[in-house]
Amino acid sequence: MSDTVQQIKDRLSIVDVVSQYVKLDRAGTTLRARCPFHAEKTPSFFVSADRGTYHCFGCGEGGDIFTFVEKIEGLDFRGALKVLADKAGVEIVYERGHSTGAGQGSKDERERLFELLETTAIFYTSRLSDDAKQYLRERGITDSTIREFRLGLAGSGWTDASDQLKQKGFTDREIVEAGVGKKGDRGILDKFRNRIMFPIADSAGRVVGFSGRIFGENASPEAPKYLNSPETPLFHKSRILYGFDKAKLSMRKLSCAVLVEGQVDLLLSHQAGWGNTVAVSGTAFTQEHAQLIRRMTDNLVIALDADEAGIKAASRAARAALQGGLNVKVARLPSGMDPADLILKEGPDAWKKAIRESKDIITFLLDVLEEHAKSPDNFRRSVEIAVLPFLSDVSSPIAREQYAREIAARLKVSESAVNEALGKVARVPQSAPTHEAVPRVATQKTDRVKQAYALLLWQRSLEKPAVDVLQFEQELHDATGAEIFKALEQLPEQEKEILRFEGERAHGKSRSLSEDWELLLRQVQGKKRSAELYEKLSKVEEGE
Ligand code: CTP
Ligand code: MN
Repeated sequence: MSDTVQQIKDRLSIVDVVSQYVKLDRAGTTLRARCPFHAEKTPSFFVSADRGTYHCFGCGEGGDIFTFVEKIEGLDFRGALKVLADKAGVEIVYERGHSTGAGQGSKDERERLFELLETTAIFYTSRLSDDAKQYLRERGITDSTIREFRLGLAGSGWTDASDQLKQKGFTDREIVEAGVGKKGDRGILDKFRNRIMFPIADSAGRVVGFSGRIFGENASPEAPKYLNSPETPLFHKSRILYGFDKAKLSMRKLSCAVLVEGQVDLLLSHQAGWGNTVAVSGTAFTQEHAQLIRRMTDNLVIALDADEAGIKAASRAARAALQGGLNVKVARLPSGMDPADLILKEGPDAWKKAIRESKDIITFLLDVLEEHAKSPDNFRRSVEIAVLPFLSDVSSPIAREQYAREIAARLKVSESAVNEALGKVARVPQSAPTHEAVPRVATQKTDRVKQAYALLLWQRSLEKPAVDVLQFEQELHDATGAEIFKALEQLPEQEKEILRFEGERAHGKSRSLSEDWELLLRQVQGKKRSAELYEKLSKVEEGE
């Protein structure tokens, strides 16, 4: 494993990794950005290409490519490892070997579940019949999409998947825990039968659950059309979006995400060139989903069915998205069609047009309500009930004002009337406000000794230091005295890393490092001298 980590670090620079998520600006020798981990207007997030590390002076986050991906993707270490290994084209070598149960429990439980679900996904893909493939093709899904999204089939047997898993050494308990099997009277039964299987992955692309669409002549007519994995330690519906792992980079690139409702909608949308599409899996869109998207982009286009239920669902999703801090647009589909229908019947261009012409949520709602309103009065009332609550969810005051203006114009009333009505709408409590963290002004507050040491540490960390590091070391040693210098050298690595960034931040743009250094040294010496003087004086006093 440590080999894998090293190989990945050799191949991927911190700049490659970070710049996939945030825009890095070069200022002199330093690279910086607005911190992706807290809200801020002025950049205090620094990246060191030399050391392969980052540090934010605003919120204190720092680390290497692994901690960065863990944090930004919301993954554990193994998840980050997978994301980075894929990116670097490095194969992860685990020490494998099946734990035979008793006393071995070396591999942690989550890892076992991941492995179980991966095994299950492989099993289902191996079972995809010609019939099923034929059906998928008729729905417009290409063979390469079938492969890429690993579509599979759960047949009509009662225990096919479970048997296979047991044979591979997984226990009944694990099979149930992973949501692949359920307890029956006489042992474990497969959860999914007679279904086309869509594996659902976390943002690292690891299978965490499934959605299965009814298929096959043996399927019971009473069975629900779609069946999803139950909540498990790995699968949390409210936090996982179908297709997110494949869509995330495209979301960033296109600076927008598209939300659809169904698996098939998602697949066809990806095929139609919208690789930034994600879907909820049999659940409402939540603020947590919004957070997930916000790691990649602030903009969301919602494209749900055009029927009344679809519009209601779109409105609910839009509210969660607004509350989660996203800018929301809604694509209007021809009535009675979902995205899959539209793409299959009218082609990818019709879909492209729908997305391109998507309207801001408020405009969309005003349009829909106006069309359905029986009178201007009726329109006004429905706007008060159905639109103003949305407005109170918009976090930007500027955007809120623009909306208020738009509503006023549409209703032909004054802006102040809209604002007054808005004041009466209770504001939904938002997730805790993210304070603009106050950057610590290290250069003024921490003592001079540390500032000098920071400059030294920074230069030491560079492949090609701009100064004579050994000489600086000696000079600082002499200026502080051996004891203090030793204490500095023994600071915890974490603190040293922060000092390196502080050194770079304070002196990265300096015209003369030697001049900076001289000044710092004089201040350090001054300090030392006054300390010595004080000591001498107190001795004299004692003597008296
Ligand atoms: N869904 C679900 N459980 C159901 C029905 C639907 O989880 N019993 C979810 C599925 O993700 C489904 C989406 O809601 O894709 C939309 O449902 P629906 O419009 O009924 O299905 P379609 O996507 O049109 O399904 P298909 O096109 O495959 O017939
Ligand atoms: Mn459909």
